Amino acid sequence: MSVQAAVQVFADPGGLFRAAADEFARCVKDAVTAHGRFTVALSGGSTPKSLYALLATYSTLPWDKIYFFFGDERHVPPDSPESNYRMAREALLSKIPGPASNVFRVPGETPDADQVAITYEQTIRQFFKTPPGSFPRFDLILLGMGPDGHTASLFPKTKALQEKSRLFVANWVEKFKTSRLTLTLPVLNNAAEVMFLVSGPDKAPALREVLQGDQSGELFPAKLVQPVSGKLMWLVDQAAGADLRAQKS
Ligand code: 6PG
Repeated sequence: MSVQAAVQVFADPGGLFRAAADEFARCVKDAVTAHGRFTVALSGGSTPKSLYALLATYSTLPWDKIYFFFGDERHVPPDSPESNYRMAREALLSKIPGPASNVFRVPGETPDADQVAITYEQTIRQFFKTPPGSFPRFDLILLGMGPDGHTASLFPKTKALQEKSRLFVANWVEKFKTSRLTLTLPVLNNAAEVMFLVSGPDKAPALREVLQGDQSGELFPAKLVQPVSGKLMWLVDQAAGADLRAQKS
């Protein structure tokens, strides 16, 4: 991994989520001090649920200055059990005082996946005032990692891995026989900070490969997340980090 990643291993998931929530709060404080707002792309799946539930108790955060986007989404309506938006709404967004207008969900209910991506890309460009040819800079992008080394909806050997100009695309995932919607690598790698949260023994082999192995990023896409001028953090629990070789100090 060429970018210097800060890897922290926590004895248990509780410690992982407390540290992640505190890092989130630190990012908020820095961003609001620096430019009056905080923009975050939330990750989906199951791991971040506990982080979101913990963040909902951080009552002193300036929620009205926090703007929520989604790093990826399934091609489903917002009330689907599969929806990352639904998970975030139930765990966090419905429990904080920030205005609903600060939440930008992916319109997964739109039947045509490419149209979903085009619409959401326009939403991002308008919010960040991103001119064609350049990329928005999120203050924080939260990411998870699958046991196959995928992140967001950038799955091994899928077309979206090659995307160099779009911000947000529909990505056909053969193993699920469906399109997923995802931020692209140029956006992930333009973030001020990327924080991976990885928990559980099923992630251990992929984590070792991503952080310490030499297989290609095509096969382990999380390896391709290397912010060009941002901070990269990996917060993992002991179970996920079980296969990591101890780093020489
Ligand atoms: C999604 C996520 C995805 C997730 C990993 C890990 O839409 O599922 O964005 O990239 O982060 O699949 O998922 P778990 O946290 O459920 O293991």
